[in-house]
Amino acid sequence: MPRPGVPDPYRLKARQEGYASRAVYKLKEMDRKFHLLKPGLRVLDLGCSPGSWMQYSASKVGPSGLVLGIDRNPPEIELAPPLYFVPGEVESLDLETVKAVCPEFDVILSDLAPKTTGVKEVDRQRSLDLAFRAWEYARQLLKPGGHFLVKVFEGPDTPALVKELEAAFSACRIVKPPGSRAASREIYLLGLNKRAA
Ligand SMILES: C[S@@+](CC[C@H](N)C(=O)[O-])C[C@H]1O[C@@H](n2cnc3c(N)ncnc32)[C@H](O)[C@@H]1O
Repeated sequence: MPRPGVPDPYRLKARQEGYASRAVYKLKEMDRKFHLLKPGLRVLDLGCSPGSWMQYSASKVGPSGLVLGIDRNPPEIELAPPLYFVPGEVESLDLETVKAVCPEFDVILSDLAPKTTGVKEVDRQRSLDLAFRAWEYARQLLKPGGHFLVKVFEGPDTPALVKELEAAFSACRIVKPPGSRAASREIYLLGLNKRAA
């Protein structure tokens, strides 16, 4: 974490490069390492606002692909194909609304984060609930062979989700990208190549 008064280099870089958020560098690094995004792919981005993951994903999937973002808040970026947005709470959004835009996805990303309370156990549980909700989307909307990347605040119950992903994907990785603040408890779980049901 940068010292008070010292600008965060990732934030400065994001501003200079026209990204909506410093979060983009976490996705960029994981994509560089695991080759998740390619031209023509259909991507679902859960917790997409302000929109830097959408900007980066769109640049990778190109005009023949699709990036659908979902968030309770609208993205702060210009929305034009291949970018689409559905507003809503991930807990209550009807999956049929998502399927009407795109029936299945090649990649599902979740950077969903709860509003933190400062109470570690509460924040961890809320983050885990969001990660399991994202997993429910991936269970239903991710095609076989697809990849699932989900943020979670690490805690004693994280292994329960890891176990589910290990069973559902041919490989599961636990990733802490360089753009993620060292002091933050966030990690990313990555399920690679979803097995056929
Ligand atoms: C860390 S930000 C995502 C940043 C994004 N990946 C980017 O690159 O700009 C987390 C987002 O999750 C959203 N969020 C949290 N809980 C949500 C919920 N229950 N339903 C919908 N969106 C939610 C927040 O509104 C916020 O925009």
